[in-house]
Amino acid sequence: MSYEYRSGLGWDSHRTASGRALILGGVTIPSEFGLDGHSDADILLHAITDALLGAAALGDIGMHFSDTDPRWKGAESMQFLLHAKSLLAEKGFELVHLDTTVILEKPKLKDFRTAIRENIAKHLGLSLELVSVKFKTAEKVGPVGEGRSAEAQAVVTVRRKVPEYAGV
Ligand code: C5P
Ligand code: MG
Repeated sequence: MSYEYRSGLGWDSHRTASGRALILGGVTIPSEFGLDGHSDADILLHAITDALLGAAALGDIGMHFSDTDPRWKGAESMQFLLHAKSLLAEKGFELVHLDTTVILEKPKLKDFRTAIRENIAKHLGLSLELVSVKFKTAEKVGPVGEGRSAEAQAVVTVRRKVPEYAGV
């Protein structure tokens, strides 16, 4: 038996907003503002969800969880990610590794790196070393740098077993 490996790429962006929570990777970060959105606006989990769907060419997050559907109003984004994982499992794919970047001018996030990695790893059934979370500012430039929005990027690797190629 050998493996078919695939990569998936995800990206998300939401506006910053006062009176909203800042939730990244399912972890609530102490902050004077949060991110606006139909769901809990967890850009990190949205990017990972899109990366997973992308690896299996299963469309994107909005196709599976419409942002006009009242069922997803205020929804915890971890349920989107777990649903994407189960869709991939139906196709025989397991998650091998993920790497992510959150781009947010403030607050500083590095003290929350371990909590975020642990929460994602726990929900996805991965060991901690397979979940990478990085943070960047946008150097005060553009909508992210001016504090008007935040972005997240994710790359995932998935694999599924395929019969050994027997040759001709
Ligand atoms: O964007 P910049 O290269 O200046 O970020 C320097 C470091 O600050 C990053 O490597 C990251 O560890 C940390 N950082 C953070 N929270 C942010 C942005 C960056 O902890 N919101
Ligand atoms: Mg989103």
